Amino acid sequence: MDKPDPPLRKRSPEDRRSWWLQASAASAGQTSFFQGSGADLELADLLVENAVGWMPVPLGVASGLIVNGKSYEVPLATEEPSVVAAVSFAASVAARSGGFTAGAADPVMRAQVFLEGAFSDAETRLEAHRSSLEAEARAHLASMESRGGGFRRLSLARLDLGIDVVVVRIDVDVRDAMGANLLNTLAEALSPSFEKALGGKKLMAILSNDASLRPAWAEVTLVVEAERARRIALASAVAMHDPQRAVTHNKGIMNGVAALALATANDTRALEAAIHSFASASGVYRGLSRWTAEGEVLKGRIDLPLALATVGGSVGLHPTARMALQLLGNPDSRRFCSLAAALGLAQNFSALNALTGDGIQKGHMALHGRRAAWQEKNP
Ligand code: MEV
Repeated sequence: MDKPDPPLRKRSPEDRRSWWLQASAASAGQTSFFQGSGADLELADLLVENAVGWMPVPLGVASGLIVNGKSYEVPLATEEPSVVAAVSFAASVAARSGGFTAGAADPVMRAQVFLEGAFSDAETRLEAHRSSLEAEARAHLASMESRGGGFRRLSLARLDLGIDVVVVRIDVDVRDAMGANLLNTLAEALSPSFEKALGGKKLMAILSNDASLRPAWAEVTLVVEAERARRIALASAVAMHDPQRAVTHNKGIMNGVAALALATANDTRALEAAIHSFASASGVYRGLSRWTAEGEVLKGRIDLPLALATVGGSVGLHPTARMALQLLGNPDSRRFCSLAAALGLAQNFSALNALTGDGIQKGHMALHGRRAAWQEKNP
């Protein structure tokens, strides 16, 4: 296809939408669906460049997930059938034994400034300049500090690259925000002072999406038939020993966690990158959950690094994301991450329960029939 002329960035959102409908050869049915779903082009244009419209994903609500004694109706945005039903099923089984317990660490994120050619005694120089560098960081973080977050630590590491590169790390409690803008601005603002104090030249300054400084966890104790419990525990052991199975095992966990992240306009790519890095922290990619069985008692635990925001960025702008958070009672980020961890464990229980029982295709095929009928009516 020829490049749009004039280029998309020079056109109004309405003009771009007309171009999209024409260039994609939209049928009458597709046009009416596209125009009816998410009409607010002005907001789309604020969220991304060259906006032509919205790509709506179904939003469902999983019911009755009890976490730390509180029952949640959980909004999930996903194109995949069975995800919402899986969480609701696990929630109903868990409710019989009081639900999930879950927690999350303080929301500390890290920014990294890489310096090429720093002094050979950069470590000593960092100590000599520590108080002034920390004071400068705190000054940039004044507003976050007034909300109970802000500067936490400054540290330095030398990379084993063959070329002299050090990384200066600034750890910040970002409270309920994702903190990407804050940390990127901070890292760039502090770079000249790092260059002056430690020598070398900035190669790059950016937050790290590694969220291992903010682990979340969830646990549940279920009572199920003894043979079922044994098989689920065995399936989770398999995911600890077979990386290929672990990928699918963890994909199922992310069916829940990523759907909640999308429903609340969180950054799903950052979430996935952090979680899969954590899953391979031992050097081998492993399952993120563990289940153990003793007779009819089945115990599950999940540990995940979670950097989910409840304010700021697209989370604060997207009306549906805000409704989703309102439905959850406007949690702070720690409560939200605790809920997400429990959701991941719930999703995993349902998947393993189905896989080690009748298999997952039975439920899928029922929906498949309804989808085929819809497609016939909407060619
Ligand atoms: C399907 O989206 C997810 C499962 O494959 C997860 C799993 O195998 O554990 C059912």
